[in-house]
Amino acid sequence: MGRMLPERPNLAIVGATGAVGAELLRILEERSFPHGRLRLLASARSAGTALLYRGEFVNVEELKDDAFDGVDVAIFSAGGAISRRYAPIAGAAGAVVIDNSSAFRMDPDVPLIVPEINGEAGLTAIGCRLSAGDRGLEPGTEVRRPSIIANPNCSTIIALMAVTPLHRAAGSGGVERMVVSTYQAASGAGAGVMRELEQQARDFAAGRPFTMDLLGRQYLFNLFSHTSTVGESGYNEEEMKLMRETHRIWGDSSPRITATCVRVPVLRAHCEAINLTFRGSLTEDEAREILASAPGVKIVDDRAGNRFPEPIYASGIDEVLVGRIRADISQPPGKGLELFVAGDQLRKGAALNAVQIAEMLIHAPQPTPA
Ligand SMILES: NC(=O)c1ccc[n+]([C@@H]2O[C@H](COP(=O)([O-])OP(=O)(O)OC[C@H]3O[C@@H](n4cnc5c(N)ncnc54)[C@H](OP(=O)(O)O)[C@@H]3O)[C@@H](O)[C@H]2O)c1
Repeated sequence: MGRMLPERPNLAIVGATGAVGAELLRILEERSFPHGRLRLLASARSAGTALLYRGEFVNVEELKDDAFDGVDVAIFSAGGAISRRYAPIAGAAGAVVIDNSSAFRMDPDVPLIVPEINGEAGLTAIGCRLSAGDRGLEPGTEVRRPSIIANPNCSTIIALMAVTPLHRAAGSGGVERMVVSTYQAASGAGAGVMRELEQQARDFAAGRPFTMDLLGRQYLFNLFSHTSTVGESGYNEEEMKLMRETHRIWGDSSPRITATCVRVPVLRAHCEAINLTFRGSLTEDEAREILASAPGVKIVDDRAGNRFPEPIYASGIDEVLVGRIRADISQPPGKGLELFVAGDQLRKGAALNAVQIAEMLIHAPQPTPA
């Protein structure tokens, strides 16, 4: 039986020079991801530079329409506009696209996948599409969306890694209401914003005015509302993504969700305070037991030592850290729970999740066309 992807697929990374791109290369190397030819793609600004990968320098090429010839899987991390323009081109060239941008996440034809949470349902959807003959179309043919798989928003992935096992265990339909407050790192806004935060630290140490080229504001020793557009409701786009994508991943739009997303002067790894109300019941002890065996989750909850999830503990690791696990004392017993999570959004929130999806496709058998 064939597989959804070849055992050693030819790989393209769109946005290879960015914050997520750099992490993708690190993860492919760490996990010895099996692949054939590797194409590193970025803007014309980076064309001609080279990136170190598995001990060798690989040239970065400018992203153009013919970049996907012979490519089996293309991981996009270059912003929504690039994904909207080039993902269909990659699909038409026969590649499966795994997209880190928000361009296709709410498209009902595009699976939105976190392997630990909805991997199997996603595989079924992808398998049906791939067997329906999306691959091998003439370049320029309008491709049906199935050749694209979307990676959810980073804050959404990090929250759901911890909350989904509780949602599924609580009974009577799980979470009735979720209130999320985020503390999001600079790296979530890309490599340039990380550099600007570092530069502001140097400016401060040298007694110079702060460099404010990208954000137009002081970031060091400050925090501010997430910089995505604020809609008429007063919610910004990041907050809306967290709500909508959670409903889509759970396949259930009944849980009431609200969020406040804030950027904090941390270089890497997002934190989130999460308050849950259950329709059924889940005690603190039950929550601990469930989280202790949840895939991709690690409990850090040392009350005596006051050690809980922190960005520096979560940076560079695969697991989402969960702590401050406690019954919400404003709720009847078993009805409410408080959590604090920290997750490296460049890894599980983006690059790692994308690589896990690719691994899933390599190992999954290709279903026989109906
Ligand atoms: N950062 C995160 O934590 C995170 C998490 C989840 C999802 N994402 C999504 O991942 C994507 C990338 O984010 P990032 O943080 O890695 O951003 P970034 O550090 O700013 O990197 C952007 C990348 O896109 C490339 N690019 C920009 N314009 C291009 C063009 N016209 N043609 C080809 N390549 C172009 C850049 O290449 P040059 O170097 O040549 O400019 C660079 O490689 C975004 O869609 C973001 O929403 C990011």
